[in-house]
Amino acid sequence: MSQTPRHVAIIMDGNGRWAEARGLGRLEGHHAGAASVRTITTRARERGVESLTLFAFSTENWNRPKGEVRGLWRLLIDFLKTELPTLIKNQIGLRLLGDPDAIPPLALRTLNSVINRSQKNTRMTLNLALNYGAKDEILQAMRRLSEAGEPFDEAHLEKRLYTAGQAPVDLLIRTGGEHRLSNFLLWQSAYAELLFSDILWPDFDAAAFDDALTEYAKRERRFGRTGAQIRGEL
Ligand code: FPP
Repeated sequence: MSQTPRHVAIIMDGNGRWAEARGLGRLEGHHAGAASVRTITTRARERGVESLTLFAFSTENWNRPKGEVRGLWRLLIDFLKTELPTLIKNQIGLRLLGDPDAIPPLALRTLNSVINRSQKNTRMTLNLALNYGAKDEILQAMRRLSEAGEPFDEAHLEKRLYTAGQAPVDLLIRTGGEHRLSNFLLWQSAYAELLFSDILWPDFDAAAFDDALTEYAKRERRFGRTGAQIRGEL
């Protein structure tokens, strides 16, 4: 079995606390978080990860103060515009995981433009989870199956998820010291190895990502079988 996870998903938590600890505003924490997005995307690609999914905005994040919500979308637009050449140079294709309907129009236009311009890139897929909630995703997939009269089985359902065609999540990382899944990729992470790090997202650097991959490589993934079976002793 490969030691490199094919699909790594990250709940990027801790931007606010990182900023508060420095006497800065929360948005400055998100700006520092965007720099980590850049670093970790580059590192994941160097390490041969096929899919990197980053939880950037949940369906619950709309409840944050209006200024923070506006600032986050503005940051995303600037990030996408700045990063497009790097994505293309590094053969990274962008994909949106989430319901596009409530995404602010300018952010959606920018996203779609970067998605279209990077869609031929196959070295790595960068999934941005924006306005994403796993329960919504599963329910929507079930509705579509029902409308199309398709069978309710795993293969058909997976084709209707935002991650259609991608490997299931092998490694799910949450930074910032919380131990929750927060409605993130519940179906895709059914057999994921979970790694909770106390590091705040803006401090999560390439070395921390490498440490996470080292920890992943030590885990014995049994998928319901025994350790002896996995080691080939039975
Ligand atoms: C959680 O930290 C982080 C978010 C809700 C937003 C994530 C956004 C970024 C990493 C920056 C922009 C992203 C891209 C893709 C450019 P928190 O605010 O909940 O931190 P706290 O728990 O310390 O308050």
